[in-house]
Amino acid sequence: MTKETKKWWEGMAKYYQEECKIPIDIHYGPGSPNEKELKLLGNLKGKNILEIGCGGAQCGIAMAKQGAKVTGIDISKEQLNFAKELAKKNKVKIKFIQGDIRDLKPIKSNSQDIVFSAFALHYVDNLSKCFKEVYRVLKKNGIFVFSFDHPFSRVIDSKNLKVKESYFKTGKITKVFSDKTKKFVRYTYKLSDLHNTLVDWGFIVEKLIEPDSRKKYSYDPWYGLWDYTPKLLKMIPPTIIFKARK
Ligand SMILES: C[S@@+](CC[C@H](N)C(=O)[O-])C[C@H]1O[C@@H](n2cnc3c(N)ncnc32)[C@H](O)[C@@H]1O
Repeated sequence: MTKETKKWWEGMAKYYQEECKIPIDIHYGPGSPNEKELKLLGNLKGKNILEIGCGGAQCGIAMAKQGAKVTGIDISKEQLNFAKELAKKNKVKIKFIQGDIRDLKPIKSNSQDIVFSAFALHYVDNLSKCFKEVYRVLKKNGIFVFSFDHPFSRVIDSKNLKVKESYFKTGKITKVFSDKTKKFVRYTYKLSDLHNTLVDWGFIVEKLIEPDSRKKYSYDPWYGLWDYTPKLLKMIPPTIIFKARK
């Protein structure tokens, strides 16, 4: 439920930004090369880009620096406050909207060249609703590029590398922390769920990228943090990237 996710991110924004120190860059997630290496987005000058689940907007800011007209949407006020300050510091203009990415009401239909998202969609309980909205706001031939935590990596224990749960178990996962005030909620999908939901709404999936996480990328702020252990990254990519076209 979005209420739980919002609460989590309002409480975690400060810690998350301080812990990760995410550089201004178009990143795709732990163990992944950045846009400079992957070249999925093309020339950004003058492009209308919507970043969904923008968080601190490190990606959106990097896009704006390349001449894109960026709108960032996030559900968390605290994440957006951080993003606004960072955009100001970097002297770029970005339109920020606080909202739920399952409903992109503030965005006009057929208005965006690119919809982008890095590591945010696993917080969404109804990806179908979200993908439908992304399809609506994209111009014809517009692209939807998003990264997601690789559905295989979540079933492996990051320390002993043993399979810890069934890949077929999808849906809501709740983790309650020891002081019981913090509740982390995320949603799991199979690879085929992601692919087929895109296809069902009319997207053409052009690329599916499983980044080589055996390498350490000097700009990767998540390497070694939390479950992103070097041991796991050597065996399985924690990130998967889709490029789909309307
Ligand atoms: C792991 S952070 C990633 C932020 C940013 N994309 C990045 O790469 O650093 C996930 C973000 O998704 C946002 N989020 C989660 N569910 C959302 C929803 N339903 N609508 C809008 N934002 C959401 C959270 O508030 C959080 O800022």
